[in-house]
Amino acid sequence: MPDQIDHNKVVVLTGAGISAESGLQTFRDMNGLWNAYSIDEVATPDAWERNPRLVLEFYNERRKKAVAALPNDAHKAIAALEEKYEVRVITQNVDDLHERAGSTKVIHVHGELVKARSTADPSLVYEIGGKEINLGDVCDKGSQLRPHIVWFGEEIHNHELSIDHIRTAGKVLVVGTSLTVYPAAGMVTEAHQQAEKILLSLDIEQRPYGFHCMQGKAVDLVPTIVRRWMEAGAAT
Ligand code: OAD
Repeated sequence: MPDQIDHNKVVVLTGAGISAESGLQTFRDMNGLWNAYSIDEVATPDAWERNPRLVLEFYNERRKKAVAALPNDAHKAIAALEEKYEVRVITQNVDDLHERAGSTKVIHVHGELVKARSTADPSLVYEIGGKEINLGDVCDKGSQLRPHIVWFGEEIHNHELSIDHIRTAGKVLVVGTSLTVYPAAGMVTEAHQQAEKILLSLDIEQRPYGFHCMQGKAVDLVPTIVRRWMEAGAAT
């Protein structure tokens, strides 16, 4: 049976581009992180095996920058949507700028910088805020802590939950992602045929079927879209 669309529900899928104006580097733009660092050296389980110190340093630096950053007008506009809609933010970002802007239902699919996880028991996850993780920092069971981040080759978090929300949303807004990393990128194809679907990015790299694509900065375009949706109100 096809999923029932909920016109009062908005799903916003975000990527690094939404935090660019907050001063956080994206991954694949000209000044992107993956131009300065090798994924194989800092963002895979093998990298962790080979050189955990380097991996920890990389994420300690990311965490430091993320906690110092502030939510921008795009994060804030998305948070304001909750005044009229049932909103789920599904983010590939590991910063907490959506939460700090006021969004209350944020689903992280690639993990969170402000949390650490046991290497022995993945259910042991700790809030660490802006603190570093260093070699020798251990969980309650005595095992080394690692960043609560999804590395290449690992399963993404909350995949099924995210798909369930995307399938039933009346509006789907995709912001600031190159849609190159799967399976997260593939989730856009799950949007309902009748949903209003918008993709917004500085460079439009992918044009998923049925999406209206808008080129520009998230800080400029997201508030405009949100204003329109707020004026229209939730359809019944
Ligand atoms: P990318 O760096 O691949 O893509 C960023 C996108 O944001 C590009 O399409 C840019 O054009 C766009 N962009 C840049 N500045 C923008 C702005 N001010 N306003 C709007 N758009 C802007 O980042 P992601 O797609 O998020 O995963 O990358 C996906 C995943 O790859 C990340 O979650 C991370 C990375 O490897 C892991 O580490 C597992």
